[in-house]
Amino acid sequence: MAATAALPKAATSLPKAASFLIDQDYGYYTPEQHGIWAELVRCRMPQLERRAAQEYLDGFDALCLPYDRLPNLASVSAKLERRTGWNATPVSGFMPAPAFFEMLAARRFPTTTWLRGRDSLEYTPEPDIFHDVFGHVPMHALPVFADFLAHYGQLCARIHDEAILERIGRVFWYTVEFGLIRQNGKVKVYGSGLISSNGECSNVLHSGCLVQPFVLAEVLRTPVKVDEMHHLLFAIESFDEIYEAVRTLEARIDAGSRLDD
Ligand SMILES: [Fe+2]
Repeated sequence: MAATAALPKAATSLPKAASFLIDQDYGYYTPEQHGIWAELVRCRMPQLERRAAQEYLDGFDALCLPYDRLPNLASVSAKLERRTGWNATPVSGFMPAPAFFEMLAARRFPTTTWLRGRDSLEYTPEPDIFHDVFGHVPMHALPVFADFLAHYGQLCARIHDEAILERIGRVFWYTVEFGLIRQNGKVKVYGSGLISSNGECSNVLHSGCLVQPFVLAEVLRTPVKVDEMHHLLFAIESFDEIYEAVRTLEARIDAGSRLDD
């Protein structure tokens, strides 16, 4: 019983993810690390105030994400849970797909607690708390996005065919990580990889990345390339589109149909 009591509260309801759950030791962060967070936010905000989706900016404000210090995940989650039932849950790092999907299905976003150093302000090969919280979490305050992401997790959690998961993972990549939306006649960003990276965001907005309408069949046919800047991304007109995309995928999978018809 003692071992169970020492685990974070969510562990009992997340059997696949349990061994990855940790507590955020907020007092462990140094003044230098709070300063790095503040610098990262200061660098990204001018571009985002002009080119981030309005829903991202609204979510940032609604959750009172801090500008000058690292976020306390319990405090962020308390506000988030009241809005959409989501929770930014601390994890130890990279998770295998079944554990990751289990958490999404339960509206718990796997959130790393480590922060990049000054020598890698622009890029980290693995997500850190800046990517996860600054990049992802504000969108979880939007009900339709919150429902889309939970539904995505529920769908993936019951699929065991790796080829199908890889295909569906393209929808995640071109929405949650690198999603664009057209608002007020302009392309705006909402994907975390664009929100949290000046280089990725500037590449899309200023360097000739082709932006096509979000058509599910095209997204499913576009492989993910993790090691280079994007040459093609997809812009939605409304967040209803991505929720509908997951419902369409689910219907096709349940019917045994081709995914990209
Ligand atoms: Fe991410």
